[in-house]
Parts: sequence; C-alpha cells; structure tokens
Amino acid sequence: MSLSPHQPVAVFDSGVGGLTVLHELLVSLPAEDYLYLGDTARFPYGERTQRELRAFALEIAEHLLEAGAKLLVVACNAASSAALGAIERHLEQGGRDVDVIGVVAPATQLAVAGSRTGRIGLLATPATVTSGAYERAVRAADAHVQLESVACPDLAPIIQRGFPFDAHVLDTVRGYCAPLREAHADTVILGCTHYPLVAPMLQRTLGRGVTLVTSGAGVARSAERALAARGLLNPRPTEGEYRFQCTGEVDLFRALGTRFLQMPLDQVSRVELDAGVAASAQGAPA
Ligand code: DGL
Repeated sequence: MSLSPHQPVAVFDSGVGGLTVLHELLVSLPAEDYLYLGDTARFPYGERTQRELRAFALEIAEHLLEAGAKLLVVACNAASSAALGAIERHLEQGGRDVDVIGVVAPATQLAVAGSRTGRIGLLATPATVTSGAYERAVRAADAHVQLESVACPDLAPIIQRGFPFDAHVLDTVRGYCAPLREAHADTVILGCTHYPLVAPMLQRTLGRGVTLVTSGAGVARSAERALAARGLLNPRPTEGEYRFQCTGEVDLFRALGTRFLQMPLDQVSRVELDAGVAASAQGAPA
C-alpha cells in the first residue's frame, strides 16, 4: 500500500527522553501529525541486552506501522544502537518501503564536524556504550578523532523519575563528567535522549567552552529530507496534531511528559504490546 502525506510521523523511546527529539520535530515540521510511543513499562532500556532491545524495537516498529506511520524515528540511543539495522532489514524483508531514522548518525556527524581538537566525549547508557555504535560511527566519519565514552547507569532513571534535580543529581553528573574533563574533550555527545533535560548542569560541570551535541535538530533535518524525497511532507498550511501512547502508567507519563515537552499532552493512551513478536525475535543473535 502506498504512503500518503497525511499519515503521521511515529517517534519512540523507552520513556520521556525522546520528547527532546519530538520537540525539535514539532518546531521544524509543524504541519506534520505525530504519534509518540514511550515504552515506559520496560524502562530503562540502558540496562537491557542488545537482543532484548532488538526484540522491543521490532515489536514497536510493527505496532507503529500498523497505526499508520509514514516515517519511523527511533528517538532512543540504546534502541538505535542495537536495532536500527535490524528494523531496516525487517521492513525490507516485509516489502515495506518506510524510512527509519535513528539518533546516532545525526549526533556523530555534528560532533565530528564541530570538534576542533578531535577529542570527543560520549555520555550514554551502558547499553549504548556496550554496543560500540558511536565508536563505529565516529571512526567511519573520521579515523583520527578520539572518542572517550562514559557509561552513566543512573542518569536516565534519575531524569525519568522527574524533578527536582537536587544536589545528589549534581554529584552524579559531576562523577560522569570527570573522565571527559580529564580527556580534555572539546565536544561532548549527549548519547541518551534524556540527557538534554540536564544540559545546564552538564554545561556548568564540563565548562562553557565545551560544545554539547544533541541529536534532535539533526534528526529533524533528516526527517524533512526523507519525507521530501518521497513527496510525503504534509502540505497543510496549519499545525498538525500530536498524540501519545505509553506501555506504563498513563497519568505518570502525562504529568512528566508535560513538564519535559513544555506543551500540553492531551491525548495519551495506554497500549499493550504483543509479547509474541518479542518472543519470536529472541532468536536473533545477541
Ligand atoms: N532515552 C534512551 C536513550 O536515548 C534511554 C534511556 C533508558 O531507557 O535507559 O538511550
């Protein structure tokens, strides 16, 4: 079945972090309709195995395509690192001609292009660091750039729990930034879509001379190009609609999401994902 410009763009993450990417999309492509899914029941993805992440991502991709998505945005570094290629292959095998955009390539391109010293830092969840996806992307972009990666197991869960961000959070942030200060990184990739929510703390700790790189703006540009190339940009002259699905508690998602997106989250519903799809993907290599 051919796609129409009037179908929604689908965006997913393990929780509210992907709202930082959705925010850029809403600003850059306001005419589009959006469907955002937060897999809050299985948060945090950062502690999951590569195999689990691939199973979850394939399951969610299927769900969002059934909901009518014309483009998939994987607004989660852990899922992009583990599963972007698997989603692309899965769609190709099923004869579905839908573009999938992840967050690793846009962030890497910005960081490599912007670094003057060639010393780049990465703050990310353990799953993203373990996958080696950023190492590979940086090496492919420029073999002479050094990447110092720091796994931050506590940071996304702290942010997902919500405000207030107190002195304990600041200490945690300082601990994760210390190796990047020692490595004299001039550019730091926020390799988890939750982290822009503590950008002021990170910037103060790392120093104002350090450039923080997030994926949102690059993802929005890629989405625009992908839609334009297929004649799928929504032509309406007005703003589109956005709605949300989550796999966990709806009220919690709405309360936290409203604060993070700084826009109303009126339409939020709970979805049960099909465990059968996850189970059948378990056989995929780890
Ligand atoms: N926001 C997700 C990411 O970009 C991960 C948070 C988590 O579920 O651990 O990797």
